[in-house]
Amino acid sequence: MRETASSPLPSFPHRHLLGIEGLQPHEILGLLDRADEAVEISRQVNKKKSVLSGRTQINLFFEASTRTQSSFEIAGKRLGADVMNMSVSTSSVKKGETLIDTAATLNAMHPDLLVVRHHAAGAVHLLARKVSCSVVNAGDGPHEHPTQALLDALTIRRHKGKIARLTVAICGDIAHSRVARSNIILLNALGARVRVVAPSTLLPSGIHQMGVEVFHDMREGLKGADIVMMLRIQRERMNGAFIPSVREYYRYYGLDAEKLSYANDDALVMHPGPMNRGVEIDPAVADGPQSLIREQVEMGVAVRMAVLEALAEHLPNK
Ligand code: CP
Repeated sequence: MRETASSPLPSFPHRHLLGIEGLQPHEILGLLDRADEAVEISRQVNKKKSVLSGRTQINLFFEASTRTQSSFEIAGKRLGADVMNMSVSTSSVKKGETLIDTAATLNAMHPDLLVVRHHAAGAVHLLARKVSCSVVNAGDGPHEHPTQALLDALTIRRHKGKIARLTVAICGDIAHSRVARSNIILLNALGARVRVVAPSTLLPSGIHQMGVEVFHDMREGLKGADIVMMLRIQRERMNGAFIPSVREYYRYYGLDAEKLSYANDDALVMHPGPMNRGVEIDPAVADGPQSLIREQVEMGVAVRMAVLEALAEHLPNK
């Protein structure tokens, strides 16, 4: 039987979505159920709902993004919001304005929803304390990327019918990855068996306390895996050499057909993007029949619609 939240959908009791940490399993399942409905809406000719009609959503991205920013924009518009994308490269941040002053300035324009990506872990939490609208974390440094973990879970559940008791191997640069962190918390909350596979230089301290099995060898780590989730090497967060060379990294940790054959025959391949083809993944695997990478992008819009809709329930109506 498919795992879902109780019926009818429980309301989402949080004003902000700052991380997966702190969410209850039934709240996560409730968001996934909402997102399933949003997938159907997104596949119709008329994709418009009016749940955010009259509301203003600002997307404030201090770091580059293709998938997250565009899908939050599409999600907000599909729900009827007025969406403004704030371009940090042409904003007064370039003249030295602080994060808090920027947030206070935007807050004075009465947005209802603020979607924020920032390079510093914890920056989005700080900002949420300074504004009067709902805040969504679109990625804060290496800390959390909650909507990525939700869209990954949605993608998995739609294929496997469940999350509980699946074996999920998260491979690559775990140390610098907010995607890994949010996924580990979410997958554990829903009862998956979570493995991480990486050289020791790409594992964070404290990984053994995160409820995962740790592997350094792809053959061992992928044995019996239902899901193989590959991660990008995050050079922009590294200050020093974490891998001897790209060639050597690809040889030992790059997902090619041979390494994928260690996993279950029906194993599915995921990657949050952006991908570095030929570094962490072979293009033939990325584009192959077991890959869900494009579908993850579709689920991204649905999950962001679900999150915005759930938070909208807490917006004042007068
Ligand atoms: N997965 C992800 O966060 O992609 P973007 O950096 O393109 O938003």
